[in-house]
Amino acid sequence: SSSSIQIAVIGSGYVGLVAAVCFAEMGHGVICVDNDERKVKALQSGDTLIHETYLPELLSRYCNKEIRFTTDLAEATRESQAIFIAVGTPQSETGDADLSYVEAVACEIARSLTKYTVIVEKSTVPVYTNEWISRALVRNGVPRDLFDVVSNPEFLREGTAVADFLHPDRIVVGSDSPRASEVLAGIYSPLTGGSYYQRPDAIGGMCSAALPPPLLFTSTKSAEIIKHASNAFLALKISFINAVSNLCEATDANVEQVANGMGLDSRIGPKFLRPGIGYGGSCFPKDVAAFRSVADQMGVDFSLLTEVEKINAQQKTRFVRKVRTALWTLRGKKLGVLGLAFKGETDDIRESPAVELIEMFIAEGCSIIAYDPAATSRTQEILPAGPKLEYADDAYSTAKDVDALLILTDWMEFAKLDLQRLNSTMRYPIVVDGRNLFDPGKMAAAGFTYISIGRPAAHPTRELGA
Ligand code: UDX
Repeated sequence: SSSSIQIAVIGSGYVGLVAAVCFAEMGHGVICVDNDERKVKALQSGDTLIHETYLPELLSRYCNKEIRFTTDLAEATRESQAIFIAVGTPQSETGDADLSYVEAVACEIARSLTKYTVIVEKSTVPVYTNEWISRALVRNGVPRDLFDVVSNPEFLREGTAVADFLHPDRIVVGSDSPRASEVLAGIYSPLTGGSYYQRPDAIGGMCSAALPPPLLFTSTKSAEIIKHASNAFLALKISFINAVSNLCEATDANVEQVANGMGLDSRIGPKFLRPGIGYGGSCFPKDVAAFRSVADQMGVDFSLLTEVEKINAQQKTRFVRKVRTALWTLRGKKLGVLGLAFKGETDDIRESPAVELIEMFIAEGCSIIAYDPAATSRTQEILPAGPKLEYADDAYSTAKDVDALLILTDWMEFAKLDLQRLNSTMRYPIVVDGRNLFDPGKMAAAGFTYISIGRPAAHPTRELGA
């Protein structure tokens, strides 16, 4: 169509790949660049490499047509009106984001830039990165009027990434140039103008009645801060409810009731108030540390973030203590573990509290049998099976003959387990649930001793074997 824009996406990780297929779905032409030749080959053959709803369908629909994969950044730069940088910004030893990949990409873009192009930061980067990118381009000989750098942070969650991208709460564009703002407005117009949502084949369903997402223009620095501040705030919300759950445990109150009562206040909202074993994943731990480090460098006291991290770490040691209390001692005990991924419905184990807890239990002298619907092979790469650790093929065989069954990831599959069958496979029907997946009353009725987070423990209400 006439509004189709030619876009390059640099980096085909989570954010880059999802953005690339979604831009194609929105009607644009996309060149997706990655320097990993194997990855490019896999993508060209339609292999998504990550486990994500809608991604295989969209990839096969547009692959080698509206969206091309290449290692050739120079060609992508020459052919595109906008270049989205979506490479990794890993955590460095000091906690701040390592921007060497972003810098390398900026320098490579500089070598091939011959016409006006908008350079878009899509990776999560600290404030001032846009200025560093600009400086790198100028230093490499690009005239200042040939480009603008804007910030367009991405808020997608793993597991619902495609739907999140196409149905965002808001689209943030940090731009100090009207010309660049116009290009970004054009790219997102199928969403902000609502036309995408009238398509009968729209991902996530046709929803012409819903309001299209607002396009929020800010300064580039504000946009950079919005991304870090949003993730840090969500992490804070989780640490807050985790601290409240500890208070509920100490007072025999019920955190579910407390969170529900808090969340009905529209100023607080019900989301991200689920207590558990702490947040993990590729974003929250890294972004909280990076934001804290930004504040430090600017001389701003943001020790609140240190407390958020402290509560998050304590939540894991508390869980170990909880299991110890349930079993009296830990050394020599066999524990069944349900869940390895950092959250349900994903195979991602980056910064997974489940993986960390397994290591902690092994250090306490326990042996582990673990199961995850999708993350087992990834976990085996970092925690190979051995005398203290084995992997099971399903939840029921995980529960067989263990001293206690631990639930460490909120997979839907676990919530749907047949409780009678589970109970009958267990020698000691003790479940310690780090994700509050079950109703304590139902667990008690099914014959379990059930210990969860921030809720009173439940005990079998019927005679075992009855
Ligand atoms: C997050 C942000 O939500 C997203 O906007 C950003 O772009 C990337 O980081 P993601 O890492 O995919 O997304 O996972 P999310 O669903 O936010 O969960 C993060 C962690 O918090 C998980 O370990 C999850 O189990 C935990 N969590 C989440 C809780 O413990 N309680 C909650 O109420 C919500």
